[in-house]
Amino acid sequence: MSDALHGEYDDAALYDAENDWGPDDDFYRALALRTGGPVLDLACGTGRLARAMAADGLGVVGVDLADTMVARARLLDPHGSVAWHVGDAARFDLGQRFRLIMMTAHAFQHLIGAAAQAALFDCVARHLAPDGRFAFETRNPGRQDYSDGAAFKFWRRFTAPLRGPVEVWAASAFDGASQVDRVTLVRRFADGTERWSTAQLQFTDATTLDARMAAAGLECERRYGDFGGEAFGPDSPEIVTVARLAQ
Ligand SMILES: C[S@@+](CC[C@H](N)C(=O)[O-])C[C@H]1O[C@@H](n2cnc3c(N)ncnc32)[C@H](O)[C@@H]1O
Repeated sequence: MSDALHGEYDDAALYDAENDWGPDDDFYRALALRTGGPVLDLACGTGRLARAMAADGLGVVGVDLADTMVARARLLDPHGSVAWHVGDAARFDLGQRFRLIMMTAHAFQHLIGAAAQAALFDCVARHLAPDGRFAFETRNPGRQDYSDGAAFKFWRRFTAPLRGPVEVWAASAFDGASQVDRVTLVRRFADGTERWSTAQLQFTDATTLDARMAAAGLECERRYGDFGGEAFGPDSPEIVTVARLAQ
């Protein structure tokens, strides 16, 4: 597993209990129906979206760094509707080109530093069909509030099968120079036990994203500020990018 992640994706069943289908999944699934397959879901996790796209009749390949997540993706896909691979989004060679490559649920923010992003964009460009699209999102750094991040704050609550209600608390240490947020998460279970994990999240503004994509031969075709299709602006919560090979 990456140095930037400790324990966050070790319990894939718990991840699924915490992360339901959302408006972002609707956005990417609709985009896939417009582009057609084959589709590559990079950092596919346990495959919630990849399985849905396969059920839509699209050819889908899923790649994720965490063998725990890929093992559960395979378990939940007994008929092998998706081709699953353990691999690094910044260092893969599938020998195939795709009409759509996607990286969802802020997985892009797990790539820490300019070199990792450059490697990702290079890999993506090599795997795009001539008319292909690359779609991903990252939280808008302009909208983040880092004041008092070091104190643990309640983030959300969910229910895990067999374990009951779980509270998620998070503390963050944001480094302004690197724009990296080091997040510590604690999941508190009803029986009093706790599960600790850490994750680093890279924040990147839209101008920097565009420059790094251009260096890999990619250009932004459309940019949204949320998953409802609002145009991107300085106050948008998200930077949702649909890119293509530079024309
Ligand atoms: C927030 S989860 C998103 C998973 C999935 N896209 C979803 O919507 O549920 C982030 C995923 O990124 C994966 N990941 C982190 N760094 C990665 C990398 N360098 N290459 C591939 N996957 C990576 C993690 O293992 C994890 O499954």
